[in-house]
This record gives sequence, C-alpha cells and structure tokens, in this order.
Amino acid sequence: MAVKILGTGSYLPPKVVTNDDLAKTLDTSDEWIYSHTGIHSRHVAEEGECTSTMAAKAGRAAMDAAGVTPEEIGLIVVATSSPDYNTFPSTACLVQALLECPATGAYDLQAACAGFVYALDQARGWVKMNPDRKALVIGAETLSRVVDWRDRASCILFGDGAGAVVLGDDPAATDAPEAHTVLWADGKGAGFIYRDGGTRLPAPAGTIPIPYLVLQGHDVFAFAVRSLSQVTNQLCDKLGTTPADLDRVFAHQANGRIIEAVARRMKLPLEKFYLNLDTTGNTSAASIPIALDEAVRKGVLSDGMKIVLCGFGSGLTYAGTYLQWPYL
Ligand code: UT7
Repeated sequence: MAVKILGTGSYLPPKVVTNDDLAKTLDTSDEWIYSHTGIHSRHVAEEGECTSTMAAKAGRAAMDAAGVTPEEIGLIVVATSSPDYNTFPSTACLVQALLECPATGAYDLQAACAGFVYALDQARGWVKMNPDRKALVIGAETLSRVVDWRDRASCILFGDGAGAVVLGDDPAATDAPEAHTVLWADGKGAGFIYRDGGTRLPAPAGTIPIPYLVLQGHDVFAFAVRSLSQVTNQLCDKLGTTPADLDRVFAHQANGRIIEAVARRMKLPLEKFYLNLDTTGNTSAASIPIALDEAVRKGVLSDGMKIVLCGFGSGLTYAGTYLQWPYL
C-alpha cells in the first residue's frame, strides 16, 4: 500500500499586525524585528476565532482539495499547543463537530512546534492499518492568546493560523517510495520555552507561575540550528542519500536567521528552504502545513520531489520526515 497526501489546505485570519503596528506599543522597530527574524507581519485571530475554528477551516480546505467527504474521514489529529480549552475537551473533538465528520476518532497531539511532524507520522501509521479510511492531520495555533504582548523579546515572533493535510491509501501506487520519520525529544530543555497554568503545583521554589509563553531566545536559537540540521542529516543517512540531493526543505518557520544558519551549516543553498514567515511569523505547529499548502497552491511541488519536513520546539521536541511528494 502507499499512503498519499491527497490534499492540503490552510487558513490565516484576515487581521494582519505589522512590525510597525507593534512598534506603536512596544520599544521595538520594523528594522530590529526584520533584521533579527525575517518577519514583517503576522496574522492574528480576532474575537470569535480560535484554534478549533481556524483548524476546521484549514481542514475543510484540505478535504475539498482531496475530494473527500466528511463521511470518509476516520481520524482527526490536531497538533496544537494553544487548544481552545485548558485542557479538555480536545480541540480535535471540536473540529470533528464543526466539520460534521460522523465516524472518526479525534485527539490533540502536543509536541509544540514539532507537533505537525509527529502527528503526520501517527496518522500515516493509522492509515496503514485502516486503508479504507482517510486521516485529517491539522496543525493549528492561536499563540496571540498565549504570548505576553508586553515582552518584546518573544511576542514579535508569533502569529496565528492553521494548515492541514488529508492522508489516504493509493492502491494504484504499488511501488511508491516510503517516507521515513525521526522523532526526538530532550526534556532536560523543558525550561527553554514554557507556559505555566497546568497542574505543576506548587511552583518550584523561587519561581512564580507565569501564564504567558516564556522564551530563552538564545538557547532556543542554538538548539534549533543543531536539531534541524541533525534530523535532516539523519534522514538522508538512513535513506542512503545526501542533503544536496533534496529538492525542498520545509523547516519550521520560526526565524529566518535560524533557517539561514541551518542552510550554511548544511552547505545547502537557501533557495532549497521554503520560506513564508515574512508574512506569517512563527505559527508553531501550523507553520509546516501552512507553508506546504502555500507551496502546493503556487505550483512549487511536483511528483517525485524529495522533500524534508523538519520542526523543533518546546519540550524540547524535534522531528523530521523525508518523503517523495506526494507519498508518505
Ligand atoms: O518555535 C520556537 C520558538 N522560538 C524561537 O524560535 C526563538 C529563537 N530565538 C530567536 O529567534 C532570537 O533569539 C530572538 C529573535 C528571540 C532574539 O534575537 P537575539 O538576536 O537573540 O536578541 P537578544 O535576545 O540577544 O537581544 C539583543 C538586544 C537586547 O538588548 P541589550 O540587552 O543588548 O541592550 C534585547 O533587549 O535586543 C533587545 N531586543 C529588542 N530590541 C528591539 C530584544 N527584542 C527586541 C525587540 N526590539 N523586539
């Protein structure tokens, strides 16, 4: 059997917040933000929009692109760190209701910005066991409701949005190439990016619970460059190929400087890395599927292209998938 990406979709809320907008309330500037991150603007959810509504819009677009009905969906996985509820029901269950998928399992997966790659791997395994059903995999985030808008060192990075893919068996593709995934975590780095508000009580001595995203930017930057290079090299080693042989890399859109450093470290031309964060910012688990959908719509991808999807994030988590488009 061959698991195939049957369709992609994405949703970005219409409201755009530029760096100049941020500079009206923060001691920052477009020049500083763009030169340190490659970001010019980001989309921000307005009242009435939240992770489930954006996820459902991206999911619906992916189902339409795949030509799949709600009845055909057997699994919905939503990768998110900014669910509608803290902490249940899952956002995936809310998406199931919004999309009116009558017979499907649904759950959230929390692996921060690497979440979409983790979710894709789980759904791929599920399709292999259930070839008569389709899986909807969504990355969706409303980080604008999680960041501290007074903290210029973190809030300038993030944006809201959702991206989705539909996976299904392609019985005709008997000799389709198999994808390969590596999943990694390093819980010793849990303090690099975190947000309090869970069951961690009492707070460790000397700390006060902070209800916002807390970021140690320098440490995360170094980890990001290391981890993205590592997973891409590991995937190429496992598959007996070299990074130079890749057609495109869809790295988590966290910071353009991170991606430039990865390209330099791997001695790859920057053009191999798909970049759209100048107008999206860092949308965490949504960033890879949003970029993938944009690339599909722009006609950037063609059958057989060798692609790596790779992400890193809080946890710490990091992960990568090597695929030959559109087969997983
Ligand atoms: O999905 C994963 C999420 N996280 C990441 O990917 C984050 C990875 N890290 C980064 O992207 C970068 O570390 C940042 C963009 C967050 C920060 O860039 P940096 O080059 O590491 O800046 P810095 O923290 O070293 O700060 C340099 C200076 C400081 O001022 P002083 O102490 O040198 O006077 C900061 O206070 O820049 C200042 N600064 C700012 N100035 C203007 C920090 N943020 C801003 C700002 N505008 N927005």
